[in-house]
Amino acid sequence: MAEQHRGSTVIPEDKVREVAERLSIVDVVSEYVPLRRAGANYTGLCPFHAEKTPSFNVNPAREIFHCFGCGAGGNAFSFIMKIEGLSFPEAVKLMARKTGIEIEERQLTPADKQAQDERQTFQRINELTAVFYRSVLEQKPEGAAAREYLERRAASGEIAEAYRLGFAPDRSDGLVQHLKASGINLESALKLGVVRKSERGWYDQFRNRLMFPIRDTKGSVIAFAGRVLDASLPKYINSPESPLYHKSSVLFGMDMALPTIRTENSIIIVEGYFDHLALFRAGIRNVVATCGTALTATHTSLLKRHAAKVYLLFDSDAAGRKATIRSMELFMEQRLPAYVISLPAGDDPDSFLANNPVGAFRTCQDKARPAFDFFVRSLLAQTPPDSVDSKVRIIDELLPRFKKIADPVERDLYEKEICRLLGITTHAFRKRMGGMELTSRDTGGDQKQADQKGDSTQETLLSLICSYPEARAEVIKSDINNLFEGDYLELARLVLDTRANSDDDQALSHLLERIEAPGVRTLLSRMLVSEACMADVDWRNVLEDCIRSIEKKALRSIRNLTAQLRTVDPDSTEHTSLLHEINDLRTRKSKLYV
Ligand code: UTP
Ligand code: MN
Repeated sequence: MAEQHRGSTVIPEDKVREVAERLSIVDVVSEYVPLRRAGANYTGLCPFHAEKTPSFNVNPAREIFHCFGCGAGGNAFSFIMKIEGLSFPEAVKLMARKTGIEIEERQLTPADKQAQDERQTFQRINELTAVFYRSVLEQKPEGAAAREYLERRAASGEIAEAYRLGFAPDRSDGLVQHLKASGINLESALKLGVVRKSERGWYDQFRNRLMFPIRDTKGSVIAFAGRVLDASLPKYINSPESPLYHKSSVLFGMDMALPTIRTENSIIIVEGYFDHLALFRAGIRNVVATCGTALTATHTSLLKRHAAKVYLLFDSDAAGRKATIRSMELFMEQRLPAYVISLPAGDDPDSFLANNPVGAFRTCQDKARPAFDFFVRSLLAQTPPDSVDSKVRIIDELLPRFKKIADPVERDLYEKEICRLLGITTHAFRKRMGGMELTSRDTGGDQKQADQKGDSTQETLLSLICSYPEARAEVIKSDINNLFEGDYLELARLVLDTRANSDDDQALSHLLERIEAPGVRTLLSRMLVSEACMADVDWRNVLEDCIRSIEKKALRSIRNLTAQLRTVDPDSTEHTSLLHEINDLRTRKSKLYV
């Protein structure tokens, strides 16, 4: 419910419930997706990823949806948030309007009110500033040079309009005077970094620069970037971080890209404002740019919320390659498939599209290589594997990233490819890595959740404790830490807590709204829509089967670790830690009996 407070208003909890009760998830989803009944569920083609056979399920009894293809899941509100790109309060308001419920927003506390007023002031300042720069560019004599510049770069007219480009005049107080005349308290403008203050008084932050407004996903201006019109340095000056602007979480052009991102289900990421502009002009609209920073984990999770895959389109120089590889790691961690578009050496999107038709760009996009493949190739190009020494260096560079490949099939294919390229055996490769089986130690429990099918034993156990109080009691007795791992463990704890406090069958659906971790949420929604198969089973039989299977798995791990133990130096710390691990597993196994 963290989302509750994101908007400027707060909707009372009982109103949210009232709206929820009035809705049927099947009706809500049907407005966007044709659904067909299939047993206890309705199914259809998932609107959140491209698919030809339906893996999108809606469960009317639980009032939730889940897609077995992409893992999206939640209740009617989360569906609306995702498909309409809305915040939680916005989604509730939209649904309230449809069901005819009136929402009076809760009385704001003085602190809420003050924060809201300040936000509105900030937004007004940014809006005034954007309009001011825009008018200088469009109408004023001092905007002439910028108008010519944009003509030269084919960025005038509708393009300039779409980006709301502007020009900061070459005066020290153009904006200062404009804001003052509009009754703005300059101290607030200072917090946004559009004006500054010295002993001699107030002055403009941006002078003689082409201005790019930076907007949030809804299109409100939150910051600016100003480019010089010539070759002087620095090329760009950017707004500092402010209460409205956090550059590590903002992607330039997201507001313009969202409609196309939804239809393409992919996002192209570029580095420069002008790269964005060149693609936009060419009609390629599912594009975002970072704002003069490296991609962050916040960026990647934002991207993941909107599309099923990304294309990295960075410069083809060394810096661009480094940024590509660094970003690849973030996407691997997020499990969002990333591809690299390579343009001919020396080209950036702007220069490429100036000299080639859009079709040529599309061809490059079609040839985009998976980021990891790109990484392996550029590593080999940099360090030719022509000696033992260089091969070892290559493997050591590769391994930490290789271990992040979540999909077992992909891993296997890359392993073969790497070994082929390096002319080494897979045995040697694994040995260097410290034993293939051991990689699950590095990635922890979430290795399993990567596999779309998940760990069926832990999943069955979870379903069991959702439905059968007797199974819950047994599981609590035998300690959930021995039965579950990673996301499963987290979810098992939440389920037990929820069940301890409520007998209501909807309690678990409500739990879905409170879970923030995407992996855990996916698990729960998947389980809740598949739960029908858990009705009327002999819980004790199922429980015993699960425990036997966990036991077997523990035995396998112990065997693997023991094999591993033989390959490492008995005096090393690794040896000791392996021994500890084996011991832990043995202890765990011995405690398994119910
Ligand atoms: P580029 O130098 O490639 O800029 O830097 P560009 O936007 O493509 O502009 P043109 O085509 O050369 O005119 C890429 C991005 O790096 C950030 C900006 O976000 C820029 O768009 N940058 C670059 C800065 O923040 N400051 C700088 O001084 C330079
Ligand atoms: Mn550039």
